Amino acid sequence: MKAIILCAGKGTRLRPLTFTNAKQLIPVANKPVILYSIEKILAAGISEIGMIVNPENESAFREILGDGSNFGAHLEYIVQERPMGLAHAVKLSKNFISGEKFLMYLGDNMIQEDLSKFVNNFSESDLNASILLTPVEDPSRFGIAVVNGGSIVRVVEKPQDPPSNLAIIGVYLFDASIFEGIDNIKPSWRGELEITDAIQYLISHGRKIQGHVVYGWWKDAGRPADLLEANRRVLANLKNSRKLGTINGGTIMEGYVVIEKGAEIVDSIIRGPIIVGEGALIINSYLGPYTSVGPKVTIENSEIENSILLENSTIRDVEVRIDSSIIGKNATVSSIETKPKVHNLVIGDYSLIRLS
Ligand code: DAU
Repeated sequence: MKAIILCAGKGTRLRPLTFTNAKQLIPVANKPVILYSIEKILAAGISEIGMIVNPENESAFREILGDGSNFGAHLEYIVQERPMGLAHAVKLSKNFISGEKFLMYLGDNMIQEDLSKFVNNFSESDLNASILLTPVEDPSRFGIAVVNGGSIVRVVEKPQDPPSNLAIIGVYLFDASIFEGIDNIKPSWRGELEITDAIQYLISHGRKIQGHVVYGWWKDAGRPADLLEANRRVLANLKNSRKLGTINGGTIMEGYVVIEKGAEIVDSIIRGPIIVGEGALIINSYLGPYTSVGPKVTIENSEIENSILLENSTIRDVEVRIDSSIIGKNATVSSIETKPKVHNLVIGDYSLIRLS
């Protein structure tokens, strides 16, 4: 079986981070979100993966993931010129899929579930589709399925009046009949070819669609708070410490900490779970739980916790503890000694600054 991973959306809810980063390449615990998905797919025995990317992010994906051989995958890149909908992306992948059954995975999803059973059951069955579902509290944000005796009898995209609380979480298995569904749908009110509509077409034409309900943790890492939660979940799973960098005698470490090689910690308190990337420099600072410090980050005379700091960012002399924050690549947060006391800001479009 092959897989496709859809990564060609705009990522508007994660601006400004997504101006320079595809949302699937934003790191969680110092690893791009997309790699967690690829690992899940590989673990289910699928290594041929089509990456649906857009013209703006294609080179970043190629640079970070290459042809996948570093991690045992064969990646092929399929460019979707504009995000015209999930079904449109599937249609573009028809040649790559070449008539086989396939797994479709939305690239901004992070799931806990092992996919092996889901994939194996489907490949041995005569089902036309099998779709992962999970109960949610806010069904109007998702594609929603109505299930009867294990079969999906209706699907609807982001309903105002949800007929159930079972959300489509972004992992689907299809056989070639989905292409017939896609050829028979029209763009939705938001101008997209919706995969939900193609699935509904199959249901209405008597095809067998299974709903596979899971209860494990799942996150659509589409908003800053989702990324921070995903970061907490991954760091909470740290089972031991790895200290490859330089740590001086004045530093106190508690809990599980990963200090990558070339990182230097001086006179600081590091309270895990935490990861500090290669070449980072931490001086006279406090790093609290659930913090991911990217490569070459500098933190000096400051306190920070429950946050994600991307590569090469700097936090210096900040008096108030930084919490629940995402600091972009090469960004600087520092204090200045001036009279009168002022905030002096150079902020990118769509940035969010909250001062206390
Ligand atoms: O998160 C689960 C939800 O994902 C499902 O419940 C919905 O049924 C499904 O339609 C989808 O809804 P979203 O509105 O959250 O989809 P989004 O636009 O965020 O796109 C999901 C992924 O697919 C994301 O990684 C970007 C990629 N994508 C999206 C579009 C519209 C593409 O590759 N091409 C596209 O044309």
